[in-house]
Amino acid sequence: MMEEMNVMPRIGEQAPSFEAVTTQGKINFPVDYRGKWVILFSHPADFTPVCTTEFMTFGKMAAEYEALNCQLVGLSIDGLYSHIAWLRTIKDKIDYKGMKDIEIKFPLIEDVSMHVAKLYGMVQPGESETQAVRAVFFIDPKGIIRTILYYPLSLGRNFDEIKRVLMGLQTADNFGVALPADWRPGDDVIVPTAGSCGVAKERMDNKTGELICYDWFFCTRKLSKEEVESKLGK
Ligand code: BEZ
Repeated sequence: MMEEMNVMPRIGEQAPSFEAVTTQGKINFPVDYRGKWVILFSHPADFTPVCTTEFMTFGKMAAEYEALNCQLVGLSIDGLYSHIAWLRTIKDKIDYKGMKDIEIKFPLIEDVSMHVAKLYGMVQPGESETQAVRAVFFIDPKGIIRTILYYPLSLGRNFDEIKRVLMGLQTADNFGVALPADWRPGDDVIVPTAGSCGVAKERMDNKTGELICYDWFFCTRKLSKEEVESKLGK
């Protein structure tokens, strides 16, 4: 059999398709999630401490992602029964930083064959040949990969940043704007750069006062947190 290639999907590409067994039954990815945002993420292994803290954090935030029309889908190179046993242990036994009784209701893919992990470039041999790195794929409602994050085995992810990325992508799409460094909902947003000398002049003349222009190519406007929150997830 030909060895499966460890490809690296890229931003802007269609998310590679696969069928898989999960803790919530079989899934056909990404077709089953058309019309929703999806965060497909991998973790190195069940019954490991960093991964346990990550799952508890995602589990605690599940309603926030649901409100943003986003489905979480996890994966590791472990079997189904290991996944089930680990998720049961998390719910029944782990009390960590005020989080306890956390039930993971989103699907966790079993991938002992590494088929999905390799399809998504989650196995990075310099880090581990047998465990997936901590990858996060943000996939939009049309099945297009919009952001990819990779973290090493030893470092737990920042789940506020994962939510910020999702809200940033949805805000950029909904309002036709770009978002500056460290943007959070309620901060000023960047309007598209002037595409003609006339617009560049208008902006620098600043007659309406709606924009703040730092130079002709760099203008921002207000976008309230309420406006952002009322639009996202719809
Ligand atoms: C962990 O989740 O604790 C972990 C997993 C693999 C390597 C190192 C740490």
